[in-house]
Amino acid sequence: MTEQTMTGKTVLVTGASDGIGAESAKVLADKGATVYVTGRSADKLRPVAEAVGTEPLIADFSRLDDVRRLAADVAGRTATIDVLLNNAGGTFHPSKKTHDGHEPNFQVNHLAPFLLTQLLRPQLAAAGTSLVVNTSSVGNLMGKIVLDDLDYEHRRAIELPAYGTGKLMNIVFTRGIAQRWADDGIVSVAVHPGPVGSSFGRDSWFVGLVYRSPLKRFATISVADGAAPLVALAERGPDPEVDGRYFSRFSIDGRENKQAKDQSIIDGLWERSESLVGLA
Ligand SMILES: NC(=O)c1ccc[n+]([C@@H]2O[C@H](COP(=O)([O-])OP(=O)(O)OC[C@H]3O[C@@H](n4cnc5c(N)ncnc54)[C@H](OP(=O)(O)O)[C@@H]3O)[C@@H](O)[C@H]2O)c1
Repeated sequence: MTEQTMTGKTVLVTGASDGIGAESAKVLADKGATVYVTGRSADKLRPVAEAVGTEPLIADFSRLDDVRRLAADVAGRTATIDVLLNNAGGTFHPSKKTHDGHEPNFQVNHLAPFLLTQLLRPQLAAAGTSLVVNTSSVGNLMGKIVLDDLDYEHRRAIELPAYGTGKLMNIVFTRGIAQRWADDGIVSVAVHPGPVGSSFGRDSWFVGLVYRSPLKRFATISVADGAAPLVALAERGPDPEVDGRYFSRFSIDGRENKQAKDQSIIDGLWERSESLVGLA
């Protein structure tokens, strides 16, 4: 029998319809947690929700109103969240603007989880101590945050660097939470799961070269192996020792973009994101 390390814990997993989100949700439920799952596709999410034993929560992160409705749905179901796995994300063609008019790598990877986490702060704080895990990527090294051009309107947007910028924002947001929400007992970490042979890159011909070719067998790790660092962090829980840190799989302080420690970027991204989602 699986060791019940998560009994009594409430977990919300985003991007739970596929890949490492689906796997983490099932493993954490198996370890005794009450797990809520969210995704944009009802058909894909339903079997995962059935496996973990909760109702599927549908929200498309390319629509900020969906995120607001999701936060209200979650608040209606649970008063406390012990672990929030902000895992939904991926590579998107920059020309396909979101419903809200944003560059999609920016909105789906950063702005939507930023809004969700802000709206769920009361439930995270109500847990006493809680943990926000942001699934980032080694791709953060390719990113470049320009505070006056978060939507790539004044520079050329190329898919992978734009994705890398979103994943860099995940680390910057992690630092922002660590600096601002410690009094609420909220700890945050970011993590690169490794090169996982999931459905990742389904919208990208370039990433697809590796992820949908015979090379996949040699270049990627299994979905279970990719989920393992997320599960380990959730089990470790809100450890102040690691607050604001970025893991590369199980190793603390992975290689990160120099902007990730730039205080003007940490403050600037937080303030501009608040204003873009109407919280400022
Ligand atoms: N795989 C890798 O090599 C790798 C490496 C570094 C970091 N990561 C990160 O790991 C996380 C999970 O990726 P994965 O490898 O498990 O890939 P995946 O199998 O493609 O899963 C991505 C999840 O995010 C969801 N998602 C995508 N766009 C969304 C939207 N607009 N609204 C709501 N949900 C959305 C997907 O929903 P659907 O099922 O509806 O598509 C799916 O549940 C991502 O943040 C990714 O950037 C992955």
